[in-house]
Amino acid sequence: MKKFFASAILTAAVILTSPAFCAAASDISLPAPSITRTKSLGEVMRERQSSRDISGEPLSKQELANILWAANGITKRFNGSEGHVNPAALGIYSVDVYAVTAEGIYLYQPDKNKLKLVTAGDYRAATTSSRHPQDFAINAPLNLVYVENSDAWKKSNHPVNAERQAAFANIAAGAMCQSVALMAHNHGYGNCVRGSVDTDAFTKAAKLSNTQKILFAQSVGDSANVAKG
Ligand SMILES: Cc1cc2nc3c(=O)[nH]c(=O)nc-3n(C[C@H](O)[C@H](O)[C@H](O)COP(=O)(O)O)c2cc1C
Repeated sequence: MKKFFASAILTAAVILTSPAFCAAASDISLPAPSITRTKSLGEVMRERQSSRDISGEPLSKQELANILWAANGITKRFNGSEGHVNPAALGIYSVDVYAVTAEGIYLYQPDKNKLKLVTAGDYRAATTSSRHPQDFAINAPLNLVYVENSDAWKKSNHPVNAERQAAFANIAAGAMCQSVALMAHNHGYGNCVRGSVDTDAFTKAAKLSNTQKILFAQSVGDSANVAKG
């Protein structure tokens, strides 16, 4: 009997401390972004660089919120109307941002300021090339994956052909990743835009549809080479 209890306690201890139990992934409601100025815009622009020494140190919810808002967030303009951090042709926001952490793949929902869990588990390796993997991406606490969704154009009253849609998505995503880079530097984090992504693995893991196309990824995290605020 004693043996039975000892083994039951041991089993319970193993389950309770296993990573899967401790970090059961679920949707994440984000706080409002913290946009207190710590450096001047000019300083942040001068400091911008690609960092590949990103440490695995997890980001706080506030840090996640700041980065995701920079990537695809909604703003309140000076006149009180609603706007977006980044521009999009004809106001059609056809680029979605997926946040990939050690816990899972999440879709950022700008209108709810929320990360919606898509797939639980560590899929950070799928955000880098399988043939030439970049280790810093596999360890980065946050990898953003920019995904064009051509379904967004169904809302448009103006006909735009597929070639222009693709160009517009690339231009929009370029602005998005630069906003992330500037926000990261403002808060003392490193980032690196990465064109090399295992598109097959990520398409499968994130359950992307045939109207969705991966554009590129961007790693974000603490870097010894970025000045703190
Ligand atoms: C579209 C694009 C794709 C890139 N792909 C990668 C990549 O896959 N891996 C990587 O380490 N850096 C990548 N970079 C970063 C560039 O190598 C980097 O911006 C360039 O060397 C200039 O350095 P800097 O950003 O520090 O000024 C990419 C940059 C862009 C804009």
